[in-house]
Amino acid sequence: QQLDIELAAIEKSGYDHFMVKEIFEQPQTIYDSLRGRLDAKKGTLTMGGIREYASLLKEARRIIIVACGTSWHAGLIAEYIIEELCRIPVEVEYASEFRYRNPVVGKGDVIIAVSQSGETADTLVAMESAKEKGAIILGVCNVVGSSIARLSHAGAYTHAGPEIGVASTKAFTAQLAVLCLIALKVAEEKGSISQQRFQYLLDELDSISEKVATTLKLDAQIRQVADKYKDARDFLFLGRGYNFPVALEGALKLKEISYIHAEGYPAAEMKHGPIALVDENLPVVFVATRDANYEKIVSNIQEIKARKGKVIAVVTEGDTSIRSMADDVIEVPACDELVAPMLSVIPLQLLAYYIGVLKGLDVDKPRNLAKSVTVE
Ligand code: G6P
Repeated sequence: QQLDIELAAIEKSGYDHFMVKEIFEQPQTIYDSLRGRLDAKKGTLTMGGIREYASLLKEARRIIIVACGTSWHAGLIAEYIIEELCRIPVEVEYASEFRYRNPVVGKGDVIIAVSQSGETADTLVAMESAKEKGAIILGVCNVVGSSIARLSHAGAYTHAGPEIGVASTKAFTAQLAVLCLIALKVAEEKGSISQQRFQYLLDELDSISEKVATTLKLDAQIRQVADKYKDARDFLFLGRGYNFPVALEGALKLKEISYIHAEGYPAAEMKHGPIALVDENLPVVFVATRDANYEKIVSNIQEIKARKGKVIAVVTEGDTSIRSMADDVIEVPACDELVAPMLSVIPLQLLAYYIGVLKGLDVDKPRNLAKSVTVE
């Protein structure tokens, strides 16, 4: 027993929990997922695992991303990135829904199965049936040699290292990094991206690990925010564009770790329902970094404030206009909107973590949840 406790402490390298250790590993795990592939100085991108399939990929009539949980959220962000850079239509499917209906899928379709464990039963079966129907399967997995990785025609591993905390954190940002690389590679092959923009995005990716490290310095501030709102009964998370799936992920993290009811929504959609929940007791987290949707999200913040909701906003460094409206502001470094989710999700992971800790909950093993859902 004593030995077990000591071993666990060593594995956590001085951190109180695996979850926070893994959150803090993200500068390294994102870097590891890009390393050997991205060379910003030379302006090159090498994706060994998909090389043979590059021409099929660029000619894909459609890309379907299948995944569950947090990996599904990474897929939603990839949809925006791939459509923007590659001009190929993308659908993102819950693996459990995809496998049980009779989807129109076959030759010319590319399936990207996204899975940390590579063992999620629904994702596995969804890709198997699409494979039988003639689709090309790419796997984006974290566990080397896992079932999904083995069943894929090609793919790219995320190099996040073992993820022990049940709630996924570092695997998510590694998935975003790798999916971004895949999109850039296909866009390059297809010629759907200018050389200048390609180089610019390589540079943006190259500097993202450092910006994640800067974002992690907000740790103490986020703990204070967590303390202020830990007794809320419900939370709303709102975002637009690339940050909409980040809002979903923020809500999922909070639910998993703190057992507080939380919902994520596209910010504009709040008018169609969630706005009815807003009163002085409801914290609303806005993921509102500077991007093409910035002005729109500012007016969504005003709408929440007009109804006395409490606004916690994740914004780009130096943003003064949201600061004047929000109750709490968390500033992350500036970056291109395509890579922004890797930064904007960090404060939400920490917020969920600290609320869970302050409530005295088992953040590494939340009740009723499994790390890998290998049965349906
Ligand atoms: C479980 C885990 C989640 C994970 C999901 C998908 O629900 O608790 O953290 O996102 O499965 O798992 P996968 O291994 O396929 O990414």
